[in-house]
Amino acid sequence: MQKRYFTYQEIHKTAKAIAERVTASGFIPDVIVAIGSGGFIPARIIRTYLGKPILAVGIAYYDANDKPTEFPRKVQWIEEAERKLSGKKILLVDEVDDSRTTLEYCIRELMNHHPAEIAAAVLHNKDKPKRGVIPPEVSLYIAGEDLPDLWVVYPWDAEDIDEHDRKARQ
Ligand code: G4P
Ligand code: MG
Repeated sequence: MQKRYFTYQEIHKTAKAIAERVTASGFIPDVIVAIGSGGFIPARIIRTYLGKPILAVGIAYYDANDKPTEFPRKVQWIEEAERKLSGKKILLVDEVDDSRTTLEYCIRELMNHHPAEIAAAVLHNKDKPKRGVIPPEVSLYIAGEDLPDLWVVYPWDAEDIDEHDRKARQ
């Protein structure tokens, strides 16, 4: 599969552009919910511009019998995030919208906790047939950049960041 490398510099600018689009839309989140682990760093950069607290959630790919599953099965709520979401305006952040299954699952889980409003933002959306949908309750969906169906290589996965940046420049 074709790969595309992004530098921290590019990620930062894309996250800034997302924050600006959120603000321009009039949506003022109370809280940023980051989907781990890919959403952690984008959420932190967005926080620089929006100045809202971050709650982190993880997704588990296992069933009730601890068997691995292909689809997300459980949201791991960190720091009792659940109790803090009721009545809040949430900006959900992840790094990539690929099959959309994680994103849909996470949005539906969040909606169970009665937020006032949900917006979702990703750095990159892949232009491809999706297995999941963005539920209609989501008032705003922002993709920092639309990409063809390739493999995105993020700088936080790099073991050698200089080598990563060289590949990104090519
Ligand atoms: P989606 O709803 O966001 O489309 O997620 P999907 O379930 O399709 O993705 C499953 C996992 O694959 C996710 O990571 C997602 O970040 C990762 N992924 C999909 N496409 C790419 C890509 O092009 N590049 C990279 N680097 N990752 C991709 P996860 O299992 O939640 O783990 P984490 O890496 O976020 O911790
Ligand atoms: Mg992810």
